[in-house]
Formats: sequence, structure tokens, C-alpha cells
Amino acid sequence: MIKDDFNKFEKRIAVTGGAGFIGANLLLYMVPKYSQYLFVNIDCLTYAGNLLSLKSIESDQNYRFEKIDICDYNAVENCINKYDITDIIHLAAETHVDQSISNPAKFVATNICGTFNLLELVRTKMEKRRCLRFHNVSTDEVFGTLDGPGKFTEESPYRPNSPYSATKAGADYLIRAYNKTYGLNSIVTNSANCFGPFQFPEKLIPLVIRNALAGKPIPVYGDGLNIRDWLYVEDNCRAIDLAFHNGLSGKTYNIGGRNEIKNIDLVKRICRIIDDTHSDEPGEPREKLIAFVKDRPGHDRRYAIDPSFIETQLGWQTEYSFDDALVKTVKWYLNNLEWMESCINGRYLKYYEETYTNR
Ligand code: NAD
Ligand code: TYD
Repeated sequence: MIKDDFNKFEKRIAVTGGAGFIGANLLLYMVPKYSQYLFVNIDCLTYAGNLLSLKSIESDQNYRFEKIDICDYNAVENCINKYDITDIIHLAAETHVDQSISNPAKFVATNICGTFNLLELVRTKMEKRRCLRFHNVSTDEVFGTLDGPGKFTEESPYRPNSPYSATKAGADYLIRAYNKTYGLNSIVTNSANCFGPFQFPEKLIPLVIRNALAGKPIPVYGDGLNIRDWLYVEDNCRAIDLAFHNGLSGKTYNIGGRNEIKNIDLVKRICRIIDDTHSDEPGEPREKLIAFVKDRPGHDRRYAIDPSFIETQLGWQTEYSFDDALVKTVKWYLNNLEWMESCINGRYLKYYEETYTNR
């Protein structure tokens, strides 16, 4: 396709990190929905990127993949020029808190310097493309921990506690500054912990499923009483879609499903769902595999999102109940074990062994 042909698309949206968990779910949701837009997936395929997740759209006329590191300014610039990109939805990041503790440098490189590269490219092109929207997909972890009652709102102060959340906060601050200083048309969505298909099995839910099926110990950090507020990934994708199209420039939107649950209760629930689906097999309940292990340093106690602003301003609501979404998710992994194993390459295994067997 020659360059001019891309201009037949109403918008040409670069989605960074599209081979990761939320990025893949977002593309699977948006590419078929918006045939009038071109989606260019910019992803360098770290251990967390898996193109198998995108198999069902890989030949679609409005989808392209470019293997590019967002830290490579020239490569991103060439890509933006090649497709005449009009908008960016930015998800590329290093995302695992445990990895950010053992190797913070790559978090600073991608999450801060990579985001800065994108912003600089947008800034130098803003005169030509006034309508360009920069949507940063961020996290509730920037707000730090809640030790008592209450929930995070858009007005909550940023108090990040891990190198991961600090670098995400840094990116959010840069975007705010580019909005205030240069008039960047930007929005930020800060979402709760997501779960659903295509999540790399280093994160709690797919890791529990994988270990429970393999009869391996299921590591629960500390006393297991830390609370996370879980959000089904498809509900996040609909929120991102709404905020991208209708959000007000300069605003941030908190996205959460009002599903607070203690880690230990969540792990037990997953074990029970798997037991129920394998009820014809003899054996001990899988929750017997639970092993309390050394706590994560700086482990945030509780996250909880108040999503009232996006609900009232943009009319967003979750479509899935937590229970239905959890069962659906566990069953998805049980039916897609091949996908889960395709994630596990040598590099990940080494990290996995180092991180979990030494606890
Ligand atoms: P993920 O780790 O599953 O995927 C990240 C993707 O980014 C991968 O495909 C990886 O290859 C790519 N990537 C990493 N570094 C890159 C670089 N330098 N250049 C190009 N591509 C690069 O992450 P996820 O869970 O899908 O999260 C996506 C975004 O959403 C992140 O910005 C994350 O901070 C945010 N977020 C995630 C959650 C969650 O629960 N997963 C919650 C809130 C916000
Ligand atoms: P995780 O999925 O890593 O997300 P985040 O740290 O970004 O919230 O972890 C979710 C919760 O589960 C968190 O409180 C840490 C805990 N956890 C465990 O107890 N065991 C594990 O093996 C993992 C990966 C996480």
C-alpha cells in the first residue's frame, strides 16, 4: 500500500504495546469496530509481547504491526511518517512490579524516556496536526497505597511506592506538562488491576492458574491480605475507547470495577473454579498448593478506585460482574494452554526461576 492510501483512513492510530495484555485486547476490540481507522501496533516484543494474541486480526486491512522500540526516536519517527499517524494510544511499558524491583533501569528507559520520545515527536508535529490526541494508559498504582478506608479519585495525590509506579507517575507528569505547556491534546486513564485473556503468566491470576494446573506451589506474598480492585480487561477497553473519543483534553479518568478482594481470597476462588471444572479427577483441593512466601518489598496494602467521574461524565459502566468474568477468564486459560506456554521462553524462565525459587 503506498503512503497516500493510508490517508483514506479517517484516523491513523499508533497503538504502542499492542502485543501485550491490554494492548492486544484493545486491538481485538477496536480493529473490527472501527474499519474506518488504521491501527498501527508499535511493539518491540519484549518477553511480555506475544503476537499470537493478535492472530485473528493480523490480516485485517486496517491493522499493521511494526516491531519498534519506543526508545528508538528515529524508528518511531519513520513509522509516524510512513503511516501519517494522527493519534497515539500509548500502552507500551515495562509493567511487572517484581521486575521493577530487581531491574529498575529498563523501567526508567521505556516508561519515562520512551514516553518522552513519543511526546517530543508529537510536539514537533503539533503545528501540522492540531487534532492529534495522545492517550496515555496508566495505572492506579501511581496513587500509592490505601492503608485505611477511602478510594482513589482523580484528585488523589501521586505517591508511587515501586520503581514501576514511579516511572508510570513520571510519564503521567510529562504528559500533564506537555498539555499545560504546549497544548498537547492529551488524556490519561488510570485503571485498576486488569484480568482476562492474554495476560502474561507472571501476573497473579494467570500465574495461579498455571501453577494450580501443574500441581506446583502457588506463591502468595506476605500474609495474603493485600487488596486489589479488579477490572475485567474488556471493560477497561471500552473505557479507553470512550475516553479516547469523548474525554476532555487535559483530564484524567480513573477506571475501576468496584471489585476489591484480598489476594488470598482471590487465589482460593481460582483454585475452586479449577477444581469444579476438573471435578471428575480425584485429588486434593488445589488450594492446598498455596504457599505463603516472603513479601514483596514496598508491597502496597490496598488499591481501590472510585470510578464516579468516568461514569457520570462519559457514561461508562462495567458490563461484566466480577464472578462471571473470573470464571470466563479461568476457562479461557484452561482452553488456551498452548497460548500460555508460548509465552514461556528461555529469558522468562530464567527470570521466573530466579524470582520465585529463591523466595
Ligand atoms: P504488558 O506487560 O502485558 O505489555 C506491555 C507491552 O509493551 C508488551 O507487548 C511489550 O513488548 C511492549 N513494550 C515494552 N517495552 C517496549 C518498548 N520499549 N518499545 C515498544 N514496546 C514495548 O502490559 P499490560 O498489562 O498490557 O499493560 C499495558 C499498559 O497498561 C501499561 O502501560 C501498564 O502500565 C498499564 N496498566 C496495566 C494494568 C494491568 O493490570 N495490566 C493496569 C493499569 C494500567
Ligand atoms: P500483580 O499481578 O503482580 O499486580 P500488581 O503488583 O501490579 O498489583 O500482583 C497482584 C497482587 O498479587 C499483588 O498484591 C502481589 C500479589 N502476588 C502474589 O501474592 N503472588 C504472586 O506470585 C504474584 C505475581 C503477585
